Amino acid sequence: MDKIVISGGRPLHGDVQISGAKNAALPVLTAALLTEEPCTFSNIPDLVDIKTACKLLRNMGVEIEGAGTIKISAEKMTNSVAPYDLVKTMRASILVLGPLVARTGKARVSLPGGCAIGARPVNLHIKALQDMGATVDLQGGYIEARAGRLKGADIYFDLPTVTGTENIMMAATLAEGTTVLNNAAREPEIVNLAEVLRGMGAKINGAGTDVITITGVSRLSGTEAAIIPDRIEAGTFMIAAGITGGEINVLGCIPQHLEALINKLRDTGMKIQPMEGGLRVAAGSKISSVDIKTLPHPGFPTDLQAQIMAYLCVASGLSVITETVFENRFMHVSELMRMGADITIQGGSAVVRGVPALNGAQTMATDLRASASLILAALVARGETEISRVYHIDRGYENIEKKFSALGADIKRVK
Ligand code: EPZ
Repeated sequence: MDKIVISGGRPLHGDVQISGAKNAALPVLTAALLTEEPCTFSNIPDLVDIKTACKLLRNMGVEIEGAGTIKISAEKMTNSVAPYDLVKTMRASILVLGPLVARTGKARVSLPGGCAIGARPVNLHIKALQDMGATVDLQGGYIEARAGRLKGADIYFDLPTVTGTENIMMAATLAEGTTVLNNAAREPEIVNLAEVLRGMGAKINGAGTDVITITGVSRLSGTEAAIIPDRIEAGTFMIAAGITGGEINVLGCIPQHLEALINKLRDTGMKIQPMEGGLRVAAGSKISSVDIKTLPHPGFPTDLQAQIMAYLCVASGLSVITETVFENRFMHVSELMRMGADITIQGGSAVVRGVPALNGAQTMATDLRASASLILAALVARGETEISRVYHIDRGYENIEKKFSALGADIKRVK
């Protein structure tokens, strides 16, 4: 298993190019299931999760070629099954459920297990499909869904579920009549997906707000589209500039997708200015503590909670970080404490008391974003840090050690 080894203490300088967003590419790839015509998607990041999604789609008879720019055709589908051995490695496989039921009238999708950060149920996805007339049973760890043509319905999500909104928005594009998604998620990845679906002929209004209206059509055509840049990768590098006392240009990001983070990083003393093609980001003279509460978009993103916690570990003062989206997203806390961080968990909050310095240690990644927080801590820690189980990080960050070493970090991957 690979490890990442970092020697801390080097301020970062230079340019970093942000890759396409994993969480935008995954639903856009499954949208190709909605039509028999070929689609071409560009700015697809080179990530393990993307490879897994392509394997899952090829397993259904979908033709996929290329990388970076992917040509995908679901004309000759052979089955509507998402098997356990693939779904267990990537929960986002659930995103085939809505398109399969809408296109083929059936789907057999393994229930995605939980993961390190929580139980991750998909009950809201299932209920919405049932509201649209599908018969959905759970048998032997699989979701078995059947439907004639889905019927438009007035859906209410108990929680603004991101993939739930994406699944049902895709299913509704081919339903008979109009579907309204109430309490829909508002993430930029949902807006990107809606734009792609509209390019295929779908009738969608309100994406990006909490009420999305979809009027079903009888068929969709192929399309060509680009994936938006990854706001979580961009945010991770912005925090890296702050924690190392450096100044970097984050290129290819969309500042509007990062407003909650920009606001908080400015409160800690960082200087963040829009520039041609992205953001210029500089550390402040010191790091002031701030309180963080994760919320659905446009609130502070849960996917940046672990990363900003690493940063606040070396702030001056006390920060309270409250995680409201997932029930167990503090797995990085014990690893940060092994590096000398002073953190106390109280219910859904972590109280972070800034320390003058962190110390390098042998650490272990537990989930995708926790791994990123360990890298950030290692970049500022005294001495050398080893991070094992880096397969977690390869799921969501493209060439991360190359991008960090190009910014001046002393980072290498060892077998
Ligand atoms: C998406 O997961 C992202 N994944 C996650 O990113 C992200 O952390 C999350 O949204 C929140 O922003 C993808 O887009 C592929 P949710 P998703 O449904 O859709 C509960 C990463 O690091 N819920 O919005 O699975 C759920 O338990 C990953 O890239 C139900 O109870 O998240 C959670 O507490 C991690 N029932 C809350 O809602 C349901 O049917 C939000 O989950 C669905 C969700």
